[in-house]
Amino acid sequence: MIQAYIVKTAAGLEPVLAAELREMGATGIRELKRAVAFDGDRRMLYRANYELRTALRVLIPVHAFSAYSERDLYEGVYDIDWLQYMSVKDTLAIDTVVTGEVFKHSHYVGLLAKDAIVDQFRERTQRRPDVNTSSPTLRIHIHIQGTRVEVALDASGDSLHRRNYRKDTVEAPLSEVLAAGMVLLSGWDKKSPFIDPMCGSGTIAIEAAMMAVGMPPQHKREGFGFFKWPDFDRKLWEDVKGEADAKIIQTLDFPIVASDIESRARNATTLNLLTAQLEKVVRVEKAAFEKALPPGDIPGTLITNPPYDERMQLEDSIAFYQGIGDLLKKNWPGWNAWLISSNRDALKHVGLRPSRRITLYNGALECSFQKFELYEGKKFDGPRGTKVNETAQE
Ligand SMILES: C[S@@+](CC[C@H](N)C(=O)[O-])C[C@H]1O[C@@H](n2cnc3c(N)ncnc32)[C@H](O)[C@@H]1O
Repeated sequence: MIQAYIVKTAAGLEPVLAAELREMGATGIRELKRAVAFDGDRRMLYRANYELRTALRVLIPVHAFSAYSERDLYEGVYDIDWLQYMSVKDTLAIDTVVTGEVFKHSHYVGLLAKDAIVDQFRERTQRRPDVNTSSPTLRIHIHIQGTRVEVALDASGDSLHRRNYRKDTVEAPLSEVLAAGMVLLSGWDKKSPFIDPMCGSGTIAIEAAMMAVGMPPQHKREGFGFFKWPDFDRKLWEDVKGEADAKIIQTLDFPIVASDIESRARNATTLNLLTAQLEKVVRVEKAAFEKALPPGDIPGTLITNPPYDERMQLEDSIAFYQGIGDLLKKNWPGWNAWLISSNRDALKHVGLRPSRRITLYNGALECSFQKFELYEGKKFDGPRGTKVNETAQE
């Protein structure tokens, strides 16, 4: 049966998520705010959960209605036939996202919705299901914008940014979904050298490596929300997983490098790579960026997340970013370099003209993800602080 799904993602990643869905063969793709909708069958639902790199959750919308009061909200949720989706022995959790003037307290909305569901069960079965916020049988998602209420089932369960390979982190790690989105936004061809020279716990290089070898992002995950549903089709799931896993290749003929000045960061990256079973694919190197040189014989892509002077302090952020720009110019001709930072002042001192600037969010921090095309000679060498208009997406 074909039905509509909604995939949640981080702000700024909607176009890459839509592209991932297109590549998967989904139809009816519509970009929304921090989400993309598509149409598909159950196989596509399982694939979306297992294979999408920039997805946070896959939702199945079940009901939408208008609510002008708490009573309307309660009745709208009560009207859904909940016995279709869970039994009284199952447990539930409710996530809420609320914007607008009518409903202001998402926690209260969650309580009202829970009461409506529990009351319906009491009415129909004389018993009530329990709430389990950490590992429920059914996670329900309620999204309210003004008076519009959308109720959906969360097929993913735990957020899809948890890939289960990150056993150790250094300060200020990136979300796996953001890191994957950055690699996809960069347009890296997955055939040429790749480096993150300030790798921290290795998230960017690990996400890049997973893409290059065709490893599904949820390869290490043990379960999804839909595993606990009454309509779970284990045979179909095993088929989806088997088909995706069969495409994984073991080695690459170009380098992917993660380097860092700190041994703690390199140790974390090494452990995470072992957990992800990618230790043979990514080379971990001890190097200060000041000394790092391009790996491989041909130019490639460099993506890095330097300290912003927020959670990770810098003595002189302007001089640090100026230094990065000078080193890119000197040592990385022919490469495409991308930097993400919330420190816009410091970014201006990289002293190279960015050819793309994309607004992304690292947690709550608004960041600029900037591309620097490093040509030989003077072509690229814009004056320090050159202004380029920034859009959320170009
Ligand atoms: C914000 S963290 C990177 C976090 C990483 N993206 C992750 O997901 O874990 C910045 C990293 O830059 C490294 N670093 C700072 N200065 C450096 C330099 N001059 N050369 C190489 N690495 C440096 C730090 O040791 C730190 O691990």
